[in-house]
Amino acid sequence: MAETTENMLAISAHAQLLAGEETPQITRPSSTRPDNLKKGGVVSDPRLGVELPGLKLKNPVMPASGTCWYGQEIARDYDLNRLGAIVLKTTTLRPREGNGQPRLLKSGEEWMNCNGLHNVGVEQLLADKLVWLEENYPDLPVIASVAGNSVEEYEQVATKLNKSSHLAALELNISCPNVKAGGQAMGVDPEVVEELTRRCVQASSKPVYVKLTPNVTDITTIALAAERGGAAGLTMINTLTGLRFDLASRKPILSNVTGGVSGPALKPICLRLIHQVRQVSDIPIIGVGGITSAEDVLEYLIAGAQAVQVGSASFTDPLALPKIISALPLVMDQYGIDNLSTLRGE
Ligand SMILES: Cc1cc2nc3c(=O)[nH]c(=O)nc-3n(C[C@H](O)[C@H](O)[C@H](O)COP(=O)(O)O)c2cc1C
Repeated sequence: MAETTENMLAISAHAQLLAGEETPQITRPSSTRPDNLKKGGVVSDPRLGVELPGLKLKNPVMPASGTCWYGQEIARDYDLNRLGAIVLKTTTLRPREGNGQPRLLKSGEEWMNCNGLHNVGVEQLLADKLVWLEENYPDLPVIASVAGNSVEEYEQVATKLNKSSHLAALELNISCPNVKAGGQAMGVDPEVVEELTRRCVQASSKPVYVKLTPNVTDITTIALAAERGGAAGLTMINTLTGLRFDLASRKPILSNVTGGVSGPALKPICLRLIHQVRQVSDIPIIGVGGITSAEDVLEYLIAGAQAVQVGSASFTDPLALPKIISALPLVMDQYGIDNLSTLRGE
């Protein structure tokens, strides 16, 4: 099919649901939901267990922030207990509508979005989303993603999230515009990253992971700044900024002009960035970018990650995560891997 703007914007209802867009009721053909993947079938292979600050994971795979909304949306497809953990949509102090449409498109094998952090806000997260997760999945580690337009806002969200005993950890999404610094992303300035991290670490009783943006000149300086600020670990990486034009109108397709690119093209870039950070820092890394298979997970662990997140692969295949998790022991057998930590040479 030719890659027209129309095709790029013809996003499946399923992808829209996971990205938090309003969608009609979805009916998926039963053939895409094998019974053994719908409910139960938790893979309990002790070789897959991973321990990170605040997180005891039965396997190293979790959905990436913004690609599983608040969990309820994927629970219709499979038992969330299959996951190592869940990372929720980034939360801000107040609810946000985000950018106008269009804000999600499929570009070749990749995806682009400029959702503008639409989310329900921290109060509803606490009163509703986290309560649902605690009632239905009491044993699933939950990571909340935090953002704001200023260091103070991050701190306020982190403080409020302390009310939830169900949260295992925080992840700081530092790709947000810093209003005081003229709108450049928080995550490009080492001083801001260090202060932001320190303030959230002080405000929170939970371990704080910092999610790095690849849109920087030297990611190692940012990683070290997060470490100095007291980060328990790093999540690498957020989306890479991109731009697509509509041939007919000669205008950018996405409402915000640019958007974050996700999907397979990020994998080699992210593996390189993790490898670079591993040369200067020993704190745990959760790798994310373009993962679609169990082999990809192992490659990330070889590069230096301890765990991974899977994002837009779920837009293409709703069962991407349980399939990857089920395949992991088989691929480990294939490569004679007894223990995930041996991949990193530990
Ligand atoms: C539609 C969409 C929304 C996203 N929203 C967030 C978000 O709210 N917070 C965040 O930290 N990352 C967000 N991301 C980035 C992902 O968490 C992940 O870092 C990125 O997509 C790369 O992983 P992938 O190639 O597996 O998709 C979003 C990505 C997509 C595609």
